Amino acid sequence: MFSDTPTSIQAPTLFHASPTLNVSDSEVRDMREFKGKVAVVTGAANGIGRAIADVCAREGMKVVLADINKEALARAEAELEKAGSTVLAVQTDVSKAEDVEGLARRTYDAFGGVHLLFNNAGVMTTGTVWENTLSDWRWVLGVNLWGVIHGVRTFVPLMLGQGTEGHIVNTASMRGLSRASSNGVYCVSKHGVVALTETLYYELAQRDAKIKVSVLCPGAINTKIVDVPERRLIEHQNVPGERGMTPEDEETLRELRHGTRTGMSPQAVADKVFDAIRDEKFYIITQPETRFESRDG
Ligand SMILES: NC(=O)c1ccc[n+]([C@@H]2O[C@H](COP(=O)([O-])OP(=O)(O)OC[C@H]3O[C@@H](n4cnc5c(N)ncnc54)[C@H](O)[C@@H]3O)[C@@H](O)[C@H]2O)c1
Repeated sequence: MFSDTPTSIQAPTLFHASPTLNVSDSEVRDMREFKGKVAVVTGAANGIGRAIADVCAREGMKVVLADINKEALARAEAELEKAGSTVLAVQTDVSKAEDVEGLARRTYDAFGGVHLLFNNAGVMTTGTVWENTLSDWRWVLGVNLWGVIHGVRTFVPLMLGQGTEGHIVNTASMRGLSRASSNGVYCVSKHGVVALTETLYYELAQRDAKIKVSVLCPGAINTKIVDVPERRLIEHQNVPGERGMTPEDEETLRELRHGTRTGMSPQAVADKVFDAIRDEKFYIITQPETRFESRDG
């Protein structure tokens, strides 16, 4: 997969065990001890992001919750505070560079640094790639790909400047490693996240940086991710320039909903993410057995 990999850097493996860490007992990595450190989670109000935020809090981290959904964000903040965690909630649209920069400013003002960054916020849409409107493409690429780009451009220089160990997890999908009919815009966005994160891995490794990177590629996970495109298609039914629900969309949404409802729990995903951070595993493939199904679309 990485033919032009610099030979001194070990390529991460996709479906096998990760390379073993080359550390002696006396140099156990700092990023296996999370207590007191700072985590930023985008898309933190629901689903996988919320489950990751819960683990961060359980580990004793200070948690910055970022989400576009004000009400859900306030709920998550209240629940985590009630459980005794130190929390900062920042309403953020990750597709906007200035919002992500504001998120970084608020985080550094409150806690003075970041150790774990989860670029997790994401949305999806249905439809063929020729039927998807410009607004579909801009929305999904804006959140899924530009959201991660803004996160990397904003936080990596700050985290490097801190000089401390850190870890960045970018959420892609199995659909960033395969393709699926009627979900093409999403696949394009997630392939971009995989490519961006693989490149980030090498660029940091070439500089011997203390920041490690992983790309999270879940299969179907039991969240409400399918509700958002459904609502959007219904709202757009008679809006000029937008696309309303078609029978094909209904069928795709039905299949996606069945897949997510019977999928892995977001809590199990969050636990796998933390195992991967501890083990410095690059590819976090939550359901490796589903990869060929995904390829078959
Ligand atoms: N659920 C799955 O089956 C599945 C599978 C593979 C990958 N993923 C990925 O996992 C990530 C989390 O998805 P989820 O399943 O938890 O979905 P979810 O809908 O439960 O949660 C996504 C969160 O992102 C927030 N969000 C949406 N647009 C945003 C924006 N512009 N700025 C900030 N926040 C925004 C939403 O408000 C929501 O709280 C996404 O990147 C998704 O693509 C999910």
